[in-house]
Amino acid sequence: MLGNKLKVGLFVILGLLAVVVTWRLLATEFHLSRTVHLAEVVTPVGTATASAIIEPTVASAPSLGSLALGHGILIGSAVSGNWLTTDKAYAGLVSREFTLLTPENSMKFEVIHPALDRYDFFDGDLVVKFAQQNGLRVRGHTLVWFNQLPKWVTDAYKKGSYTREQWINILRDHIYTVVGHYKGKIYAWDVVNEAISDQGLLLDSLWLDTIGPDYIALAFQWAHEADPQALLFYNDFSGEGMNIKSQTIYSLMDGLLKAGVPVDGIGMQMHISLVKYPAARELAANMRRLEALGLQVHITEMDVRIQDSSAPMAERLATQAAIYKEIYTVCMQAPNCTAFSTWGLTDAHSWIPSFTGHADAPLLFDQNGQPKPAYKAIINILKSSR
Ligand code: G3I
Repeated sequence: MLGNKLKVGLFVILGLLAVVVTWRLLATEFHLSRTVHLAEVVTPVGTATASAIIEPTVASAPSLGSLALGHGILIGSAVSGNWLTTDKAYAGLVSREFTLLTPENSMKFEVIHPALDRYDFFDGDLVVKFAQQNGLRVRGHTLVWFNQLPKWVTDAYKKGSYTREQWINILRDHIYTVVGHYKGKIYAWDVVNEAISDQGLLLDSLWLDTIGPDYIALAFQWAHEADPQALLFYNDFSGEGMNIKSQTIYSLMDGLLKAGVPVDGIGMQMHISLVKYPAARELAANMRRLEALGLQVHITEMDVRIQDSSAPMAERLATQAAIYKEIYTVCMQAPNCTAFSTWGLTDAHSWIPSFTGHADAPLLFDQNGQPKPAYKAIINILKSSR
């Protein structure tokens, strides 16, 4: 009887062992086959997930963030509070590599102020809490933008529901409440985002139409009143080099500063591609003239899309690395460039595939969270210039 029980027990144990061994073999094979094909794989459209990151191969080496602190530059990424709290690998990579976080969407008007009398700080609070627990700074993004406005705002605009005074009250209440909620916890705010057109004119927007051009100065003033310690930025794209847009941004800032408006810096988004990016000397010249105004510069949303080139993948990634290296080098050499952020953590988290409808790989880490040539290029400059 006992002999039979022992046999059954042994049989069960052997069976379990066989299952475990088979599972491990399959897992290893799966992992290897993903690794083998990686060089040619880019983010498929609409499949961004936060759970594909595997332990980076550089885990014991000095990180981007720690090295860049040596020359006074914060290195950042756009993040989601949800992923920070639900995906350990995502959170681990963020806390290891970065010193600065920007909530990609959670502090935008449509998310944080979904009804006239209701604010929702849930996801933004997750980002701020994670940053505090890990000793990272936060860039608040963004207080005033024409885009990602809630329905209650756009509906009221369409219906002409409010007077100029009422729109002023709405925007002031929004800024006081959001900046006030995070007072002392946000290192820098993108106060106004994308207010100038590529032709160098004030961009037509709900805020321009309802309040008038003053909305920009008022927004900076209110943000300063709500948190006098936070750095306040104007943030935009395509104004990185010397062109009509960057000239208008410069003139606007000059005017604001002369009028005593509290502006601390310019956010250069840096959404660029292998075939379209600012020349290093122009970027440096633009940073210099902003420095002469007393303004800091943050590279706020960098990504380098590769879909516009048909070169082999290895060549594209090498060109991408050279572009990242060039932009980082200009920032490092400019005394007023104090932060360098990418727009998303890995290629699996980028906004670009869903926006363009094409696969891409625009960031420093691949879909598995492994460092790409661009990451290595920046690490190499950081190490060589310590
Ligand atoms: O939140 C809704 C969700 O409820 C819904 O189920 C889902 C269905 O599509 O959409 C979700 O909203 C999306 C939102 O991101 C949050 O994921 C929007 O459709 C989508 O359009 C939105 O895209 C964001 C985009 O700004 C909006 O213009 C991107 O994630 C974000 O990366 C991007 O960021 C901007 C910066 O703020 C400013 N500079 C340019 C940069 C790139 O466009």
